[in-house]
Amino acid sequence: MINKLQNNKLFFLEGIKNIKQTGSFIPSSSFLCDGITKFVNSNCKSPVNVLEVGSGIGTFTGKIIKKLNSNDVIDLVEINANFCNILHEKFVLSSAGQGENKKKPNVNLINSDILSYETSKQYDYIVCSIPINNLSYKDFKELFLKLGSKCLTGGIFSFYEYIGTSFLMKLLRLHKDKGNSHREQIKKWIQSHLYEKEFVYLNITPAKICHLKF
Ligand SMILES: C[S@@+](CC[C@H](N)C(=O)[O-])C[C@H]1O[C@@H](n2cnc3c(N)ncnc32)[C@H](O)[C@@H]1O
Repeated sequence: MINKLQNNKLFFLEGIKNIKQTGSFIPSSSFLCDGITKFVNSNCKSPVNVLEVGSGIGTFTGKIIKKLNSNDVIDLVEINANFCNILHEKFVLSSAGQGENKKKPNVNLINSDILSYETSKQYDYIVCSIPINNLSYKDFKELFLKLGSKCLTGGIFSFYEYIGTSFLMKLLRLHKDKGNSHREQIKKWIQSHLYEKEFVYLNITPAKICHLKF
């Protein structure tokens, strides 16, 4: 309980330091967590490979890990070194210390910007929670095409955006580039892969989840 409060406090302080990167002052709600992780499933295939982008203090990570088995693998890519320390303690150390009979997956923690993360791996599930509305349309497109190319056939790529933020950003002109052509291209690309979408109002702030299928 004390750890949870300390972790939430750190998240809040990191939000104050760099809201553009952290995207929020508080971690996601359990409703958003349930919605975004709903397709992750280790029962139909083994092993399962999962990529989580922007794990923060591990709100989604804990839920995903509970759904995985010991031969599954989850890669966590998180840009913030302070969050990585927490993730390391919560998920890497505990996973290394597990007994043979426990069903925890292998956890790889990568302290990196997802835009410069290179891997030849393909994933069954990708869960992305970086604040996409704070990216330029060019970076947004580059990132999503990259993540889409890392999804296996039949794989699911889930992400969310805060409702209204995109409109606000445009209003405040925080995007450096207008990037209309990138925006149109990425919108079409998302539509062509859209599998399911869901609105989660019980979150600060309310969010729209999109699940894309490849
Ligand atoms: C809105 S928070 C979500 C945290 C957590 N998944 C949750 O839902 O509570 C966004 C997270 O993405 C991380 N992030 C932002 N930009 C990133 C990037 N380019 N590469 C990797 N992680 C990034 C932030 O540090 C932060 O932890």
